[in-house]
Amino acid sequence: MAEQKSLSSKEIIALEDQYGCRNYAPLSVALCRGQGVFVWDVEGNKYFDFLSAYSAVNQGHCHPRIINALKDQADRLTLVSRAFYSDQLGKYEKFMTNLLGYDRLLPMNTGVEGGESACKIARKWGYDIKGIPKDQAKIIFAEGNFWGRTLSAVSSSSDPTCFQGFGPYMPCFELVPYNDIPALEKKLKDPTVAAFMVEPIQGEAGVIIPDDGYLKKVRELCTKYNVLWIADEVQTGLGRTGKLLAVEHEGVKPDILILGKALSGGVLPVSAVLANNEVMDVIKPGTHGSTYGGNPLACAVATEAIKVLLEEKLCENAERLSGVFREELQKIPKSKVVNIRGRGLMFAIDVHDSIPAYDVCLRLKEAGMLAKQTHGQTIRLAPPLVITEEQLRQGAKIMQKVFESYQK
Ligand SMILES: Cc1ncc(COP(=O)(O)O)c(C=O)c1O
Repeated sequence: MAEQKSLSSKEIIALEDQYGCRNYAPLSVALCRGQGVFVWDVEGNKYFDFLSAYSAVNQGHCHPRIINALKDQADRLTLVSRAFYSDQLGKYEKFMTNLLGYDRLLPMNTGVEGGESACKIARKWGYDIKGIPKDQAKIIFAEGNFWGRTLSAVSSSSDPTCFQGFGPYMPCFELVPYNDIPALEKKLKDPTVAAFMVEPIQGEAGVIIPDDGYLKKVRELCTKYNVLWIADEVQTGLGRTGKLLAVEHEGVKPDILILGKALSGGVLPVSAVLANNEVMDVIKPGTHGSTYGGNPLACAVATEAIKVLLEEKLCENAERLSGVFREELQKIPKSKVVNIRGRGLMFAIDVHDSIPAYDVCLRLKEAGMLAKQTHGQTIRLAPPLVITEEQLRQGAKIMQKVFESYQK
């Protein structure tokens, strides 16, 4: 059989550009291999991955234990749908609920499905348990939120690029400023509010960290007004901020927890919604589901991905290296980077207006590091949590050099 000729980066980019929906504007690099904190393009160039697929690859690319779990399960059984039981789902649900301290887990696939499911559960809880009159249940979201691209998700967005042109929007979704407790309290007083959904740190908005005590206050207010607190930990969860969950930084527990991304270590789309009986039991057979949700392959992969996080102490690694990263980033002159913020290994830098952040990402790529800007001048930095101190310092040095390449 003739050997297949591999395509060049240029050819790969041209293919996507011609045949794909142009819903993304990727950096011009075409990758074909990943291992740990590194990825390689089709020309063989090696890069530090400082995006980690928006924190899905916390365990590093192609972690051998997760890939073995995938292969092993793929040889036995991949999908049964929820019409039947599989030998994997219950085991996985028990493992996750014990670990995170909830009664039940609802398995879904993508992060946005986790959010959708949480909203459905909250509405049903609002009617069945809280007693909100029919079709009046409200869900409050924080301005600047990002939880995906479905019509519900964009209906709650405050970013015109996300929502404009996609109306009509989901009714009874309301916004409140992030990190604003008095504004939230005013909203929650409304007896038709079923839930408040919020990211513990806003990722897509540019790693926006609320004031200390915000989450504690959110917990208190939601309890006081009998409103469900939904924490979207799709990006912040599973070690990214230096704890298994970002809400642990304030020692609080949401009523509904959404996980995704790193739940599979970047191997498959796997998401989950966790809640206790009094909330989750509003969902009855036939009222919610997904053909692939809870498939045996996803369960085996997710279980191994979480075991890797725990056994390799990746949360601790993120916590330990956070200070190192901050210290290295602070070496970039203030004239070029106006703000640095982060928790664990979830960082963002705001680039000075005189330097286009997109151009910085291009130069980073040329220097052997992949990162992507968000909202114009912000660059998010989130290396895989398996990164060593030496690798982190090397990565930060690349950034320092790139910023030095701009005259000022
Ligand atoms: C906080 C948060 N929630 C939900 C999502 C949506 O996840 P997915 O893209 O898997 O649907 C994202 C994606 O970036 C996210 O950052």
